Amino acid sequence: MLALPALQPSERLLCGPGPSNPEPSVLEAMSRPMLGHLDPELHEILDEVVEMLRRVYGMPRGLVLPLHCTGTAGMEAGIANLLEPGDTAVVAQSGFFGRRIAEIARRYGAEVVEVAAELGEAVPNERILDALDAHPDARLLAVVHAETSTGVEHPLEDLVVELRDRETLLMADCVTSLGGVRLEVGSWGVDYAYSCTQKCLAAPPGMSPVAVSEAALERMRERRTPVPFSFDLLLLERYWVDRPVTYHHTAPILNIYALHQALRGVLDEGLVRRWLRHDAAGGHLQRELVGRGFELLAEPGHRLAPLTAVRVPDGVDGKAVQTRLLHEHGIEIGGGLGPDAPPIWRIGLMGRNASIETADRVLEGLDDVLSAGERAPGGGRAAERHERQHVLPLGPGGRADDVPAAGRQAAAR
Ligand SMILES: Cc1ncc(COP(=O)(O)O)c(C=O)c1O
Repeated sequence: MLALPALQPSERLLCGPGPSNPEPSVLEAMSRPMLGHLDPELHEILDEVVEMLRRVYGMPRGLVLPLHCTGTAGMEAGIANLLEPGDTAVVAQSGFFGRRIAEIARRYGAEVVEVAAELGEAVPNERILDALDAHPDARLLAVVHAETSTGVEHPLEDLVVELRDRETLLMADCVTSLGGVRLEVGSWGVDYAYSCTQKCLAAPPGMSPVAVSEAALERMRERRTPVPFSFDLLLLERYWVDRPVTYHHTAPILNIYALHQALRGVLDEGLVRRWLRHDAAGGHLQRELVGRGFELLAEPGHRLAPLTAVRVPDGVDGKAVQTRLLHEHGIEIGGGLGPDAPPIWRIGLMGRNASIETADRVLEGLDDVLSAGERAPGGGRAAERHERQHVLPLGPGGRADDVPAAGRQAAAR
């Protein structure tokens, strides 16, 4: 059989909901000599990764390690370790990923109480607390800190203050917030936080860093039923933290190098500076979009800086715009997620891409594509493919109350 030519993937500016472009130094770290997963030299690297992750999560105690899996599996690991069949879980859902938590919890035999937000809004903390009052036996409360499907940031810090005297453990989805949005899980009192490597940390996908509180570890030790083997955090602790190591599975050594380098990058930059960089880039993008007459999906006051959801104007074929941005400008942005998603674009400025320059490149690309035929009031190409044909709300004139929360936060700090 003839060998196929070596891969030559196109250069892309990855400004969708993730992955983002990894830092070149992170990719370079993956090409260093590969150690074996039981080599003591690798175990020193594991220790350094855990130490750096503790700082990035703001989690000085408890268990911190990266799972060798996707963000979704980090979510599933939390449910697998913290819930048992018949337990009650309250899930605050303001979009696709909150619904996914609820679905996984049901698959693990939990009784799920969902508290849903209106589209583009965060679930009000009072409603979450009411649900906990109505279900005082709830073992777990799950909240998505940064809902990537809608661009909504949950006021997690305000919520945790209200939870202090309750037995219910708090699980937070920090997939789109870790390394990009202010997050201090230890002092806030989050019991299980999970994330991923491919967004604000600027590494390739493949790992899910988690942070587990002492209360959650206690809960795991008291379980009546075993945790599925691959997700058993107490077994994984014996590889990542205990010495000598105990084999659990063959670790993805090159991804560990990548994460090590990515975390060095985060700490070299400084967490606060990195949060502010994401905030400034997201705020700039959101202001510019509103100024052009676009409508943002997330309510003012709850807008997430690393991910902006923009409504596709009536008469515009959103998918066609994405395709042209990709092929003509090399820029990837996302569309709506899930069958009930409204017509939106999701623009991510995460990790390496959280900059004013990158925001401007996306805006220029959008301007170009929209002026070149994908906007078509009164019967152009896009309008023919769309049932609804209205005049496009393009042009200057954002509402005064539409100043993005991200920009306001930056100004307030
Ligand atoms: C908020 C949120 N949670 C969970 C996930 C799932 O992560 P993964 O795609 O790595 O499984 C994502 C992915 O985009 C996400 O944005």
